[in-house]
Amino acid sequence: MASPYPSGQRKILIFDTTLRDGEQSPGASLTMNEKLMIARQLARLNVDVIEAGFPIASEGEFNAVRQIAQQVKGPIICGLARATKGDIDAAWNAIKHSEKPRIHTFIATSQIHLEKKLRKSKEEIIAITEEAVAYAKSLSKDVEFSPEDAARTDLTYMCDVVRAAIKAGATTVNIPDTVGYAEPEEFGSRIRKIFELVPEAKHIVISCHCHNDLGLAVANSLAAIQNGATQVECTVNGIGERAGNASMEEIVMNLRTRKDYFRNFSTGINTKEIYKASRMVADFTGIAVQRNKAIVGANAFAHEAGIHQHGVLSDKSTYEIMTPEEVGWMGEGIVMGKHSGKHATEAILKEMGYGFSAEQVDLVTTRIKTLADKQKQVMRDDIIAIANDIAGALAEEQNIIQLEEVRVSTGNKVQPTAHVTLIMRGQLKTGEGRGVGPVDAVSKAISAIIGPSISLKEYNLKAITGGTNALANVSITVEDDKGNVFSSEAVDEDVIMASAKALVKGINRAISTSIQRQAGL
Ligand code: KIV
Ligand code: ZN
Repeated sequence: MASPYPSGQRKILIFDTTLRDGEQSPGASLTMNEKLMIARQLARLNVDVIEAGFPIASEGEFNAVRQIAQQVKGPIICGLARATKGDIDAAWNAIKHSEKPRIHTFIATSQIHLEKKLRKSKEEIIAITEEAVAYAKSLSKDVEFSPEDAARTDLTYMCDVVRAAIKAGATTVNIPDTVGYAEPEEFGSRIRKIFELVPEAKHIVISCHCHNDLGLAVANSLAAIQNGATQVECTVNGIGERAGNASMEEIVMNLRTRKDYFRNFSTGINTKEIYKASRMVADFTGIAVQRNKAIVGANAFAHEAGIHQHGVLSDKSTYEIMTPEEVGWMGEGIVMGKHSGKHATEAILKEMGYGFSAEQVDLVTTRIKTLADKQKQVMRDDIIAIANDIAGALAEEQNIIQLEEVRVSTGNKVQPTAHVTLIMRGQLKTGEGRGVGPVDAVSKAISAIIGPSISLKEYNLKAITGGTNALANVSITVEDDKGNVFSSEAVDEDVIMASAKALVKGINRAISTSIQRQAGL
């Protein structure tokens, strides 16, 4: 489908909402420092806009958005707000110190939302849109407006709302497929019709925001681009509410790999930073990347079938449509052994973009040496996992519970038993647990200390590289007594220790959220 713009290159703006819509994935709660680290990585990726959060949601969220706005340079920093004065004020106060602040305000426009959620007429929604956008504009020159559930909104009415938002000062109008209902041709045509029915749309940015409920978020975003959208909203690894949002790396690599097809479109993304961003988001959110995920899954560049291997060895282009290096996957080459020192670690961390202090480099070096003693060779993925683990641990300074000691006895003739000691608000507390296996015993020992209000729901273990002495990566989900779920992840050379660390991290997340909620934040 032809773009409504004259021929020539069009830059597609990448609006990353990993820290806002992505964080709405069930269980994915990030600490302030984790958010800050992800935001810095997004800046290294060179995204155009970072949606840093929804400042009115809680004091923690407000502070995280404010820190990102103050510290992260390069991209526009955006805060989300419902179409109310209170939300818009909170968003503005959180982002106003950014070099490039943007307020993103939204209200639903589909009939089903109008009747069942907002109980408002179409005219009332238009009036609220005008008022909210005009108010946001009085604070910020960069204002984005979204008619929520646009893909299920009557087209003529949606265009009336878009026209009203532009008239009130919106510089970007975003068209969300909030529930992932649209089909690519249909969604593309909806975007094209905006330019036909609202000619002033040519003077602003028309954006798309697609959810993946039917697995079409990326296809719908590409259709939107082909029909005139010049901004795409997406997340790293495609995380997000329910089935997630459009995956940033998939959109970017489609446009890049199929330049012959998407001839007029390019992004400013530094694709070499994609792999690290993907691992960082997976490690911090605890939402693992599925092995066969396009672009960043572990199998994406593993040519396992013999016939493929033969083809790849003779000429890579037989089975590789893009190179692993393009997305920053350096291969699993052996990079360090037990004799490699601090300088080698520092060089690798620097090359991978981690801005660690000398003490933090020491911590990583010690962990690498311990692993190299057991595993002989430490792979690049091991180092990324250790670096992310240490970065995450440093970010959790405000931990309510700390793991002090784990002792386990197990065997085929005895019931596995664990003794765990935690430091809770400065006091040592030890619990004992017996279980079907050592991990179960550790989980029960921790429960014996903290009580039954937080329970383990899901447990996943994977070896990062290597064999039985590999670095273990444990991702878990815990649930509190109100049904809220929290994910976390930890790595260690020892499976039991990785499990205990992941559990303590998940419990800390559950407790901090409950404290915030009790305080009415
Ligand atoms: O999915 C959606 O509609 C949203 C809006 C707030 C843009 O996330
Ligand atoms: Zn969304």
